[in-house]
Amino acid sequence: MAVDVLLGLQWGDEGKGKIVDHLADSYDAICRFQGGPNAGHTIKIGKDKHVLHTIPSGVFRPETKNIVGNGVVIDPITFSKELDGLLSSGLDCSPNLYISKKAHLILPTHRYLDAASEAQKGAQKIGSTLRGIGPTYMDKTGRNGLRVGDITTADFRGRYDALKNKHLQLAAIYPEIEFNLEEEEKKWFIAIDRLKTLKLIECEYFMNDLIGKNKKILAEGAQGSMLDITYGTYPFVTSSHTITAGVCTGLGVPPSSIKKVIGITKAYCTRVGSGPFPTELFDETGEKLMDEGKEFGATTGRSRRCGWVDIPQLKYVVMLNGVTDLVITKLDVLSVLSEFKAGMAYELKGGEKTGHLPFELGENIANIDYQTFEGWKTDIHSAKTISDLPEQAIQYLNFLEKELDVPISMISVGPERTQTIVKK
Ligand code: GDP
Ligand code: IMO
Ligand code: MG
Repeated sequence: MAVDVLLGLQWGDEGKGKIVDHLADSYDAICRFQGGPNAGHTIKIGKDKHVLHTIPSGVFRPETKNIVGNGVVIDPITFSKELDGLLSSGLDCSPNLYISKKAHLILPTHRYLDAASEAQKGAQKIGSTLRGIGPTYMDKTGRNGLRVGDITTADFRGRYDALKNKHLQLAAIYPEIEFNLEEEEKKWFIAIDRLKTLKLIECEYFMNDLIGKNKKILAEGAQGSMLDITYGTYPFVTSSHTITAGVCTGLGVPPSSIKKVIGITKAYCTRVGSGPFPTELFDETGEKLMDEGKEFGATTGRSRRCGWVDIPQLKYVVMLNGVTDLVITKLDVLSVLSEFKAGMAYELKGGEKTGHLPFELGENIANIDYQTFEGWKTDIHSAKTISDLPEQAIQYLNFLEKELDVPISMISVGPERTQTIVKK
């Protein structure tokens, strides 16, 4: 059977966790293929709210396998905390949890280097989540990293010390920051011992075996396409391949196994951290979206910048990902506005109008052409079908489908599992 992919089409936080949880009971396996604890995927089930960072969002479905693929970077401390968080709500997900031996480990000193590098950048900082993501992927591509499979080898402590000492030498080029390395190291080794008790797998064989057995697989993206290391708003990006192409290298599955690509966009747009955001709002409408959408980071608690949907940006990532199905989330948030907009084209500084993303998204855009839509000003949280939605909302959905030339398969009208419209 095929691998379906679900990923964010903007700068992250599109509501991937909610939608994966909704879809998970129709899949045999949910797999993370990139990123790490920089992700924060929220799942709301009744009164309970869970935020997952590295563990796939299929854990709330008892029959579903959850796989952390080789493209992911794992901080054993965060991972252990996540397991504890789930245990305290009565869920032991370890029987259904599988971790690739080829996933790389985030060391405490990776987090140190992340924070020190950001401190040195000052106003130019990326706005990293400071989870050690960049330095860990640097060690992976620099061929210095430690992998999950290394933790059971006899000389693991020696290899850890060698890498840590290298990091400490490197740290000398950065300003000093506060960090209790001894304390973090202690926690790290306790968490490593816990990791040893979990199911560590040869992910590529595991995945292809599932495919061979006709199992249904969903690859769960983290971050969003505009944070992709190559195609995002570089250097204000993360350090992994967040687009569909990352699924093959992140799980060890062939391109021919990929079938559906489900792309998620909010009905507006947000970004957390630094970097260009052409349709950003700096007025009270932006604040209204932030308030109504509760736009605060699930991982860092930082407030998210808000703005309008950007059609050239969405067309770009629909192209890169080969999106076959669209999911629109947070449509309910627009209910507070009497009118709203979508960015349609960029006017570059030389005067040229374009629907293509320029090399530098921040520097080159002088103006944006917007299309304005009439709002509906009615509560849509309890809508169960398309026909329950106001005419203005339906028109906006039709507009998005037509502009992006991809059918909408689901619409989310609230954070709850049940607040989801599945389009027939
Ligand atoms: P992810 O990183 O893509 O999984 O998204 P986050 O969990 O970081 O952020 C999405 C936030 O919006 C979470 O607080 C969700 O509970 C919430 N959410 C998801 N879908 C909807 C929706 O349709 N409407 C509203 N109001 N909130 C939603
Ligand atoms: P989910 O999976 C939103 C952003 C950070 C920063 C940049 C680099 O919840 O959608 P990093 O820690 O990777 O070095 O940060 O990327 N970022 C996210 N923004 N959602 C995320 O994940 C993000 N993960 C990283 O804010 O701008
Ligand atoms: Mg998030």
